[in-house]
Amino acid sequence: MSEQSMQGRVVAVTGASKGIGLAVVQALVAQGAQVLGGARDVQGLQVPGAEFRALDVTDPDSVADFAARARELGVDALVNNAGVGRFMPLQAITPQDYRQVMDTNVLGTILTTGALVEHFQGRHARGLGSQVINVTSDVSGRTFASGALYTASKFAQRAVTHALAYEGQGYGLRVTEIRPGMVDTYFGDTQQGEPHKAAWLRPGDVAQAVLYALSAPAHLRVDEVLLHPTVQEVAYP
Ligand SMILES: NC(=O)c1ccc[n+]([C@@H]2O[C@H](COP(=O)([O-])OP(=O)(O)OC[C@H]3O[C@@H](n4cnc5c(N)ncnc54)[C@H](OP(=O)(O)O)[C@@H]3O)[C@@H](O)[C@H]2O)c1
Repeated sequence: MSEQSMQGRVVAVTGASKGIGLAVVQALVAQGAQVLGGARDVQGLQVPGAEFRALDVTDPDSVADFAARARELGVDALVNNAGVGRFMPLQAITPQDYRQVMDTNVLGTILTTGALVEHFQGRHARGLGSQVINVTSDVSGRTFASGALYTASKFAQRAVTHALAYEGQGYGLRVTEIRPGMVDTYFGDTQQGEPHKAAWLRPGDVAQAVLYALSAPAHLRVDEVLLHPTVQEVAYP
């Protein structure tokens, strides 16, 4: 990848305050992109070259505000990364758990993308392409015990990603699904750097995959990237 590959690009990133999202922001600005990052708590966040804005992807008003700023900046790519993980046996899932996980991972992707579709269509009318990168998971196509709720949300997010790819082809939108295995972040109310995560993927590994998709030449669409730490059991979905 050339050092200049992200110069002139304007990228909006959700879930940008920590973990994978923050690493994506850092990798993008390091390559010269202008970045708008959103998360519910962005207080004190500082990455030179990036602008942060409070964003709750489950709240249509908050999404509208974020999308308006993204359009103002001339956004050409959106990274839907905001997500939550909750793991419990099926009988323990409450309607509140369901709404939190599905609203964040599925509705959030739909609302945030939907708020930019007209803008991307306008870019197409001016001969410009756009990109959407959805960070789903390696479990967007398989499941496991205590994974009903989370994997249902990721299967659904994958379906949303594929439907958008069909729709977006009509207006020059390239859509990519990034599917990481285990990544050392704050995911699922854990802490980054816990000893048992030492051999897991780093957030920067996923950020490199996002950069790869975003810097692909205009004739090339990266449909999907599946990443696993070497130690994770091989399981092809
Ligand atoms: N870590 C893994 O092993 C792994 C594996 C595969 C896929 N993933 C996916 O990767 C994505 C990022 O996860 P991560 O591992 O980086 O987790 P993380 O460290 O917990 O970060 C999650 C990010 O999402 C934001 N977020 C949560 N709810 C939000 C909302 N309603 N609106 C806006 N932002 C929200 C959080 O910020 P606020 O709390 O301030 O809003 C935070 O910035 C998720 O979609 C996750 O499903 C993770």
